[in-house]
Amino acid sequence: MMRRRSLVWAAVGLFVVVVAVSALLVRQMRRAEHWPPPVRPATAMGDSTCISCHRDKASYEGTAHRLTSRHPSRVAVAGEFTPPGNVLHTPNAALHFRMTADSSGFYQTAVTGTGKDTTMRTERVAYVAGSNRKGQSFLYWRGDSLFQLPISYWKPLNSWINSPGPAYPDGRVNFNRPVGPRCFECHATWIEAQPDLGVVNRYDSTHAILGITCEKCHGGGREHVARERSVLRAARGPAIVNPARLTRERKMDACAQCHGGLGRPMAQPFTYVAGNRLEDFVTLTTPPPDAPVDVHGNQVALLQRSRCYQASQMTCLTCHDVHATQRDPKQLSGRCLTCHQEQSCKLFPVQGHALAGRCVDCHMPVQSSNVIVSALEGTQQQVKVRSHWIRVYRGSAGK
Ligand code: HEC
Ligand code: HEC
Ligand code: HEC
Ligand code: HEC
Ligand code: HEC
Ligand code: HEC
Ligand code: HEC
Repeated sequence: MMRRRSLVWAAVGLFVVVVAVSALLVRQMRRAEHWPPPVRPATAMGDSTCISCHRDKASYEGTAHRLTSRHPSRVAVAGEFTPPGNVLHTPNAALHFRMTADSSGFYQTAVTGTGKDTTMRTERVAYVAGSNRKGQSFLYWRGDSLFQLPISYWKPLNSWINSPGPAYPDGRVNFNRPVGPRCFECHATWIEAQPDLGVVNRYDSTHAILGITCEKCHGGGREHVARERSVLRAARGPAIVNPARLTRERKMDACAQCHGGLGRPMAQPFTYVAGNRLEDFVTLTTPPPDAPVDVHGNQVALLQRSRCYQASQMTCLTCHDVHATQRDPKQLSGRCLTCHQEQSCKLFPVQGHALAGRCVDCHMPVQSSNVIVSALEGTQQQVKVRSHWIRVYRGSAGK
């Protein structure tokens, strides 16, 4: 009797020990972090695979991030390719540009000279850069090297225009601006850069992952998907980056790789993964406090100048959910109220609830960029961008 009872107890004890040990092992295995590798063809699963499980993220496919670089197509390319809208005149009577399309592709032609002395140079669009919120620029192949095309498209003017920047003065032709990997780091997921001393724009043209895909922000997902599909899924960590779990600095880094300015490369392109320290990959120059920061391309530096940012735990994610398109300033003004009240505004005693939904209009105004400037028939056109320096703008009262 005694013996049998102690055997039962021994069995129960053993069972408890086995359960406890396996629970510990499982925890240990889950803890064994597998940080995903950078995304490239060998590690990528592609958005449709991610969305097959994460259906609530399907809205991502229509966002500016997703569409920011594409192969040319009727849908992807804005602008007119038939007369009269397909011609851009310049102040130089002996130079105009013509945009044409046929079943073989989309083309830009520079027509120089007049009469019998006319010469033409035609290049075919290889990639479209820009989702066309504001506009688009175009790239072309010369051998295995990529260059920018001289003509861009501006949506607010619904017009072809000289590509932005000092490389494209009105009335002159420039087909020689090389496109380096940093352009693709910000506007695409991956392209295979060919190392070549002194040449920055050689690529393997056979494959590129265009647009910003899920895995650009979350890391190559092959291991994550394998784990989620395996019977052992509960036993192991997810092997994917969830930026929500990162520290504030690393959260900011995840956006700053593209929204913190050009910077100076410190590592091979396309090697940064969210969660890494960005400064090990690219050195961003922090402008001195009194130096102007252009509204284009550096939302990070502007936000960091704001009292809101300095006096709270604010990140880009306080206002933005990158998985959907959010462009309603009214709705985004609602984000201010997670920390402020309408009553916090000094104008409240006068304007009262009329301020509701308009916080952003006055405290984050749309301003002209001094960097993205294009020449158009003798005028200078500046792109307008929402400032991320949240503060009191004198003269904004009553706007
Ligand atoms: C087979 C279904 C499946 C596929 C395919 C899949 N996931 Fe997941 N994913 C899951 C499940 C289930 C979870 C929740 C796992 C957990 O909490 O342990 C998850 C969690 C996540 C998380 C949060 C991880 C965390 O630590 O909180 C992210 C980010 C994520 N997935 C991104 C992706 C991306 C990007 C892809 C495409 C490369 C993808 N997933 C493909 C099923 C899937
Ligand atoms: C790989 C580069 C890259 C990363 C990483 C990135 N962005 Fe962007 N973002 C861009 C580019 C390029 C655009 C402009 C896209 C276009 O219109 O062509 C953009 C546009 C946006 C827009 C405007 C979208 C619209 O529809 O008007 C918001 C908001 C934004 N990014 C927020 C973020 C936040 C927040 C993060 C960090 C979680 C982030 N981005 C990470 C490159 C990036
Ligand atoms: C521009 C960067 C970026 C891209 C691209 C992106 N995400 Fe995310 N994702 C984030 C950030 C940042 C978070 C953390 C969200 C937060 O805290 O607000 C996140 C969180 C998640 C999570 C975990 C939290 C949750 O809401 O379930 C999943 C799952 C996820 N993303 C899946 C995807 C999928 C699938 C895609 C592509 C269809 C995608 N993401 C594209 C930046 C990105
Ligand atoms: C350091 C990152 C970065 C680099 C490098 C970069 N861009 Fe951008 N680009 C952005 C961001 C961020 C935006 C949108 C936000 C803004 O204007 O502040 C943008 C906007 C654009 C837009 C307007 C898209 C739209 O519809 O709103 C075009 C076109 C564009 N870039 C083309 C290029 C081309 C072509 C190159 C390379 C030759 C390039 N950019 C290099 C980050 C970058
Ligand atoms: C994450 C919390 C948070 C959010 C979200 C936030 N703020 Fe703030 N804001 C603060 C804090 C904290 C201060 C500093 C208050 C102080 O110094 O007493 C501040 C200060 C300000 C100031 C005074 C700036 C100055 O230079 O003195 C203005 C104006 C302001 N916020 C407007 C806004 C607006 C508009 C929004 C929405 C676009 C917003 N804030 C979103 C936390 C936030
Ligand atoms: C306090 C809220 C808030 C925070 C924090 C915030 N944004 Fe925004 N962001 C906005 C609002 C409001 C807009 C305007 C939306 C519109 O008009 O389409 C905007 C627009 C943008 C745009 C498009 C600008 C343009 O005019 O082309 C980009 C890019 C962007 N945000 C990136 C970021 C990044 C990166 C961060 C973090 C450094 C960030 N935002 C933090 C509120 C915020
Ligand atoms: C019509 C433009 C306008 C709108 C809309 C507006 N503000 Fe203001 N706000 C101002 C001006 C101007 C001041 C500075 C007034 C002064 O100092 O006399 C100010 C001051 C502030 C301050 C700083 C108070 C301090 O202590 O210095 C905060 C915080 C603020 N506003 C938040 C908000 C919030 C939140 C909203 C949306 C509910 C909002 N504002 C809407 C123009 C505006």
